Amino acid sequence: VDVDPSAYEYGELADEPRMFTEILEQPSSVERALRGRLDERFGTAHLGGLNLDPRELRAIRRVKILGCGSAYYVGQMGAGLIEELARIPADAEAASEFRYRNPIIEPDTLYVAVSQSGETIDTLLAVQEIRRKGGRVLGVVNVVGSAIARAVDGGIYLHAGPEIAVASTKALTNMYVAFSLLALQLGRVRDLSIADGKRLISGLQALPTQIEEILKSESHLEEVAARLAEAESMFFVGRVRGYPVAREGAQKLKEISYRHAEAYQTSELKHGPLALISESVPTVAIVPQDELTDRNVAALHEISARRGPLVVVTHPEVDLGELDALRVDVPKNEVELDPILLTIPLQLIAFHAAKALGHDVDKPRNLAKSVTVE
Ligand code: G6P
Repeated sequence: VDVDPSAYEYGELADEPRMFTEILEQPSSVERALRGRLDERFGTAHLGGLNLDPRELRAIRRVKILGCGSAYYVGQMGAGLIEELARIPADAEAASEFRYRNPIIEPDTLYVAVSQSGETIDTLLAVQEIRRKGGRVLGVVNVVGSAIARAVDGGIYLHAGPEIAVASTKALTNMYVAFSLLALQLGRVRDLSIADGKRLISGLQALPTQIEEILKSESHLEEVAARLAEAESMFFVGRVRGYPVAREGAQKLKEISYRHAEAYQTSELKHGPLALISESVPTVAIVPQDELTDRNVAALHEISARRGPLVVVTHPEVDLGELDALRVDVPKNEVELDPILLTIPLQLIAFHAAKALGHDVDKPRNLAKSVTVE
């Protein structure tokens, strides 16, 4: 599964949709994102392009992440990571909304613009608005020399290689890796211990092999996708670390299979959407092994009691008891890094659902790879 970027141009994968080859390429693209950026001795990351010295890094009081579509959802995952590891208040917002509410730009806030293409107009205009008001912006960008990469004060390149399919996969995974590195570096100039830094470094180094393992379960995911593709409408649920994963999973499915998928916080189901659950409305639940596992499982019993079909994306260590559900297991990493592994099967589920329904996976209707007009 370790695909050479040129393999699908000429090799046996030439006839496969690009989205599929880009999914398969992730073990090697994650390695590229990590290369030369881990400092094992001090348990930290070195991101040369930030253009911020340790004193400036310590002076950051808040982090605001901006992006559109899937980049926004990964931004939400990144904000969670930064709060957990560096204990700096952080949040993500859709770049397309930010600029229109006369945002307050604070001097000790670090703004981060996330974009695969580096050309998304809404994100670019948000960057220009922040800089016009004197704010400092970092880019988390894949395309070298793109408009956003040129407009920012510093940044992190994703090194995902060219991404052609409209539905983003490998670039998103590398965005998460980039946020992990940023959170680690921010954490280690503050109170994150060297032991925790080293624990996260080992976790990051384990990602490529664990992603390979997930990719091996493709035929099982194809079966899961075939079941979901039968439904007109479904839920993706998760909470805290799992919620942005659910949002991204729902987005991917909508984009390419044209089935309705709504992401919800598992904890909020009982405040409304539970009324929609029935035999014909399945739920894909993201259940990491963390302090919320038991609560998550309890909520799934509520769905099951209403005969809602369940797909549970979790780890082999998690005991689902008597729950009637299709299980998708991903290997366990460090709790902070699990969200990215939980995202990978959702890519393959969306891909196979779209394929089963006979859609053009790489070029979904009404969507463009990058939206460069307002
Ligand atoms: C478009 C694509 C989405 C993508 C978004 C942001 O809407 O259809 O898949 O997530 O743009 O793209 P960017 O290049 O800024 O990451």
